[in-house]
Amino acid sequence: MKQVFLETFGCQMNVADTDRMELILFHSGYRRTQEKEDADLILVNTCSIREKAEQKTFSLFGGLKPLKTTNPDLILGLTGCMGQQDGEKMLKKMPYLDFVLGPDQVEGIEQAVNRVKESKKPFVWTGFDIEKKYSIPEISGDLPKKPSPSSFVNIIKGCDKFCTFCIVPFTRGREKSREPEELYQEIRHLIDHGAKEIILLGQNVNSYGKRGLKNPIPFHELLYKIAEIPGLERLRFTTSHPNDFTRETIRAYRDLDKLVNHLHLPIQSGNNDILKLMRRDHTVEEYQELIDELKSEVPDISLTTDIIVGFPGETDAQFRDTLKVMERIGYSSSFMFSYSPRPGTPASEFEDSVPLETKSKRLQEIIKLQNRLTQEQVQSYKGKTVEVLIEGGSSKPGYSFKGRNPQYWRVNLKGDEKKFQPGDIVQVNIEKTSGHSLSGLIQ
Ligand code: 5AD
Ligand code: SF4
Repeated sequence: MKQVFLETFGCQMNVADTDRMELILFHSGYRRTQEKEDADLILVNTCSIREKAEQKTFSLFGGLKPLKTTNPDLILGLTGCMGQQDGEKMLKKMPYLDFVLGPDQVEGIEQAVNRVKESKKPFVWTGFDIEKKYSIPEISGDLPKKPSPSSFVNIIKGCDKFCTFCIVPFTRGREKSREPEELYQEIRHLIDHGAKEIILLGQNVNSYGKRGLKNPIPFHELLYKIAEIPGLERLRFTTSHPNDFTRETIRAYRDLDKLVNHLHLPIQSGNNDILKLMRRDHTVEEYQELIDELKSEVPDISLTTDIIVGFPGETDAQFRDTLKVMERIGYSSSFMFSYSPRPGTPASEFEDSVPLETKSKRLQEIIKLQNRLTQEQVQSYKGKTVEVLIEGGSSKPGYSFKGRNPQYWRVNLKGDEKKFQPGDIVQVNIEKTSGHSLSGLIQ
């Protein structure tokens, strides 16, 4: 039996692409190993969203080079966004690589491996698929692993927004949605194999169904349809752009019990001039209006976001506007980044006037603020009962399981391991809170 070692950097789309490659390779005789040294094939699925992600990849490849030197039969592939962006450059930089694939070439992983075996000449496959539609063909038969109780389903790929700081529209191409029927089928299949919660995935899920579908339906209708699938207990989605987030979707939150009370809605900055330079095409006030409306329909909704500090030209006062918005909205958690110029994006041509030291100070300051906001909210759960979907074993000493409540807080659970199992939805009394998580006893 051949063995494949898979490493993933970056977003959930990449995690989903890695899972897909694992499935395809499983059906051509490869089993996944956690040990690089045992592998016949090593694939590194890369991310180019910020410079740091790229540096991590280069340092991993530095460690892989000796494996290839001692075992020339080892096949080494670089996949994902760095490949898309800089395919030939990657081969030049790392001549020991066998191939480079872009994110649209995931379905061709088996052919790529076969080509290496036949020709032994390094190659780059980074074409975007020219089909208007996005389809993930079903592979029937055994699965390499049981689906997680909380499973991701890609509904749309690519992004047409072209925010000035972002590389994604260049690495992942134009927006394309999958046919609703294909989605229902995949979700039914996951539920049949134990999934309870489905997280709909895409760079901008709210843009789902805008064009190219045989049976076009808007995103909110897709939510209503999926919520009807028997056996589904919870529904989530990520990630959204405020401009495509409709009133109908707010109504879906109100109407659908299964649509959990959590929304990840990136704001990026709390200042209108910076938002304009970022080409986000909305104002802070418009964002706030959406949130107010959502909170009036779903008062216990938790909100998370993405924020960039140190965008070119960001003044101290503009940065303070971001702090104000964070406080006003009261995010339960945020992904916070220091701006990283990405070659080829419009913002990389702007004068990057914020010194590195200021960027890092600002980052520390918003992290501090977010920690306080998180603490305040996490503490309010003490003594309360929350509903948790058990996802697996807990790594926290003294706790048997881990899971999440509808608001997406991580919960560690104490309970009888013979009585409960992953996939169960249980009521939990919260005894303790720490950092970003809750812990308690299953009732
Ligand atoms: N620099 C810093 N952060 C970035 N993001 C995207 N591009 C950049 C960049 N060039 C962040 C945004 C986005 C998240 C996925 O990554 O906040 O929402
Ligand atoms: Fe990037 Fe903007 Fe598209 Fe999000 S919406 S993937 S930040 S271009």
